[in-house]
Amino acid sequence: MPEVSNSEAGDGGAAERAAQRRALASRYALLPLRLFLGVTFVYAALDKLSDAHYLAGAGDPASFVSQTQAAKAGGSPIAFLLGPALDAPTLFALAIAFGELAVGLGTLLGLWGRVAALGGALINLSLWLTVSWNVSPYYLGNDLGYLMAWTPLLLAGTPYLSVDGYLARRAGRDRERGLTEGHVRRRALMDGGIAAVAIGGAGLLSGSLTRTFGRNRTAAPKQSAAPDPAAAPAPAVAAASVPVGGSAQVKDPATGDAVYIVQPKAGQYCAFSSVCTHSGCAVDAPRNGQLYCPCHGSRFDAASGAVVNGPAVKPLPRYGVTKDGDQLTLGPLQS
Ligand code: FES
Repeated sequence: MPEVSNSEAGDGGAAERAAQRRALASRYALLPLRLFLGVTFVYAALDKLSDAHYLAGAGDPASFVSQTQAAKAGGSPIAFLLGPALDAPTLFALAIAFGELAVGLGTLLGLWGRVAALGGALINLSLWLTVSWNVSPYYLGNDLGYLMAWTPLLLAGTPYLSVDGYLARRAGRDRERGLTEGHVRRRALMDGGIAAVAIGGAGLLSGSLTRTFGRNRTAAPKQSAAPDPAAAPAPAVAAASVPVGGSAQVKDPATGDAVYIVQPKAGQYCAFSSVCTHSGCAVDAPRNGQLYCPCHGSRFDAASGAVVNGPAVKPLPRYGVTKDGDQLTLGPLQS
């Protein structure tokens, strides 16, 4: 009988351990993605529920109504489906927020993982076809990326470290005990349903509490107060630092928001807030006569701040600028 040397036995053991590590890594490969999507959806839902802007009326550019109207006007390919959402905006806005909460909790806990992933994919598909539809180039739109991220979970489900995994193992034991397939399935469905109701109730309660006691955000759109010269000197830059077609950045001393001082034509100076009127992202510095918002693709005219391309519907807030010698000084907010 051939003898196995110590080094050969050691090599075999190391190879086996490496194979076990690889198998373990494959088994839990989707766990980071699942955690990320689950946490993000719970966070997004609670963020919506605690934000007074979200359920404000059409006068607030960050509200569900304004964003849905902007998507409809901006050429969304599912514009024909947005009419019912605009007829009952509060109902739809809450349904989206609580839907995100259910998807997030189901994904985190691994309860009916494929159903949760399908829900997440449908939410991101609808957001991609509405608020992200005008983002250019397409890969800057978050929602398309999220839609793709749901695909692996939709295909694989959540069989490990999950309620689904527990129910599957118990169903296996039931089969070994000789229970009929119909009985096993009914039991798994009923227990999954009880868990879903319990988790859904907890989600509903936490969502409602967040809605009631959440962060104290006011419903009024963010307004910059005029800079108070007594409180802080008005920001100023050298005129030479603002070339024709270019800009210099200063801060609104009242809010701390970035403001672009621009020179769209030789000798013509104006200033615009960098805060996008769609959902508050920071717009890029002007290029080719426009300020571009990377979040959902809105474009604003660099000479007037007017919307060139939605989903934003309101122009960028404009400030006065005075030129004194070689100095450009930011004036008060004008609109
Ligand atoms: S925040 Fe949506 S386009 Fe700017």
